Amino acid sequence: MLRRTLLALAGSQRVERLASTMPVSSGIVARFVAGQTTARAVAATAALVGDGLQVTIDHLGEDALDRTRATRAVAAYLEGLEALAEAGLTPAAEVSVKLSAVGQALTGGHDVALDNARRICEAARAAATTVTLDMEDHTTTDSTLAVLAELRRDFPETGAVVQSQLHRTEADCKDLAHMGSRVRLCKGAYKEPARVAYQSRRDVDRSYVRCLRALMQGAGYPMVATHDPRLIRIAAMLAGRAERKPGTYEYQMLFGVRPEEQKRLAAAGETMRVYVPYGDQWYGYLMRRLAERPQNLAFFVRSLATKS
Ligand code: FDA
Repeated sequence: MLRRTLLALAGSQRVERLASTMPVSSGIVARFVAGQTTARAVAATAALVGDGLQVTIDHLGEDALDRTRATRAVAAYLEGLEALAEAGLTPAAEVSVKLSAVGQALTGGHDVALDNARRICEAARAAATTVTLDMEDHTTTDSTLAVLAELRRDFPETGAVVQSQLHRTEADCKDLAHMGSRVRLCKGAYKEPARVAYQSRRDVDRSYVRCLRALMQGAGYPMVATHDPRLIRIAAMLAGRAERKPGTYEYQMLFGVRPEEQKRLAAAGETMRVYVPYGDQWYGYLMRRLAERPQNLAFFVRSLATKS
């Protein structure tokens, strides 16, 4: 119930206006968001890479409602990629892109998002790294996978994301588990209706295991994005059964979530990638993180009250 309320609040402009008066440095925001500027994202990336971790940076911003905002988002990615390359952080660091931030929701959104994502892929290649297309709510899944398929003709290294909470995802995993295909499997962070998505944690987790099996048995490169200790153990077991060596798949976690576990997996010889969000549009992202762990809500309310 609380999770659903928080996910609904993620779309509330009133609460967003109030929350956005909080500086990004305030406790709960700083825990999950690397900072507002490219320089802060690069500094956070350098620290993580120094600890033996890999990174994917995400310039925060969803639902560009006009072309100017979409163009600004592209510019931010180009700047980020150039800065990562200049700092010698590629290919250890790549970028994650939400198609809604680069124009997917606009009229003619498919073509706008494809053109913009293509520019980011070109810049990523010039910087010797890769792009992964984040997955948003279920109404965008077909369109995101269609853009991915077109991008992969020229940039086969582009990563996909699938969400185990959706009924369709096991089949999507089977389609995507081919040679060279990088696929991030997560549970899914959006509030979805029962007609398309599993509603109980148990069913989402069971689906995660079925999807994981399809990806590990396939010929692609699975990216296991979860903080769930049980699923991490199952991933290791399925990788072993498929005779996969570390480096033929990777684990992924979010910046600020289970940092000790991130370092433990890297020290054990696994590839561990941290998703590092930055920018000033952190509200929707933070609310989804709170929905996953309502224990963090008290910190958020305190930060809102003190605005410090
Ligand atoms: P779950 O939420 O069940 O948590 C399992 C355990 O992890 C908890 O018991 C707790 O110990 C710990 N934990 C989880 N969240 C925490 C938090 N916020 N604070 C502290 N501890 C926490 N979603 C999406 O829809 N599209 C996408 O493109 C992506 N991309 C993505 C990239 C990466 C690298 C990750 C790790 C996740 C995503 N997600 C995502 C988010 C994903 O769908 C999901 O919402 C979160 O990962 C939380 O689910 P878990 O699998 O961690 O399990």
